Amino acid sequence: MKLLRDKVMEEGIVLSDQVLKVDSFLNHQMDPVLMKEVGREFTRRFAGEQITKVLTIESSGIAPAIMTALELGVPMIFARKHKSLTLRDNILVEKVYSFTKKETNEITVSKKFLCPEDRVLIIDDFLANGEAAFGLARIVEQIGAKVAGIGIVIEKAFQPGGRLLQEAGYQVESLVRVASLENGTVTFAEEVIS
Ligand code: G4P
Ligand code: NA
Ligand code: NA
Repeated sequence: MKLLRDKVMEEGIVLSDQVLKVDSFLNHQMDPVLMKEVGREFTRRFAGEQITKVLTIESSGIAPAIMTALELGVPMIFARKHKSLTLRDNILVEKVYSFTKKETNEITVSKKFLCPEDRVLIIDDFLANGEAAFGLARIVEQIGAKVAGIGIVIEKAFQPGGRLLQEAGYQVESLVRVASLENGTVTFAEEVIS
């Protein structure tokens, strides 16, 4: 997605060989016009999948997920990272380990909002090792629903998440794929520019 690539080039800050900072449009300040286009692009890429729900994880996945859900005309659900006081029973729980943060979070979704008939599009802001996406997929599968696809705003293609998710049989669509952050420079993977 050219618009997003340009934004990463203009505003992305390479913090290390592993980490790209994009807090001016995705992780802190958010760009609603760009997020609207992100929602339209995911809707195009998953057309024909008969999606009934969009699922993400708080907090930075929420903006791209809500714009996608708006475009698709379906509800959006975000998995919580901290157990809600009012949400004790009837919850789906999965453990998600973060290599970046070296910690395990339990993510939860109320059973009220997913059913076995659902076809769920999983959306997230970043894809690194794929732990968050796999955790969300396990939540969907726990209830007996179908993962219709996984949409990622920025994939770090030098980390294994994208490959592992594809090997597990999921359709993964990443709007930009970063091949390397070496030498303080963002290098994109080959992609068809749309
Ligand atoms: P994984 O799920 O693919 O295995 O990723 P990982 O555990 O490494 O990611 C942990 C957190 O760090 C996630 O955010 C993820 O979005 C973020 N992250 C990973 N790599 C990068 C990067 O290069 N740049 C930025 N900006 N973020 C990255 P989170 O803790 O869930 O935070 P948030 O959603 O509340 O923002
Ligand atoms: Na994030
Ligand atoms: Na995220």
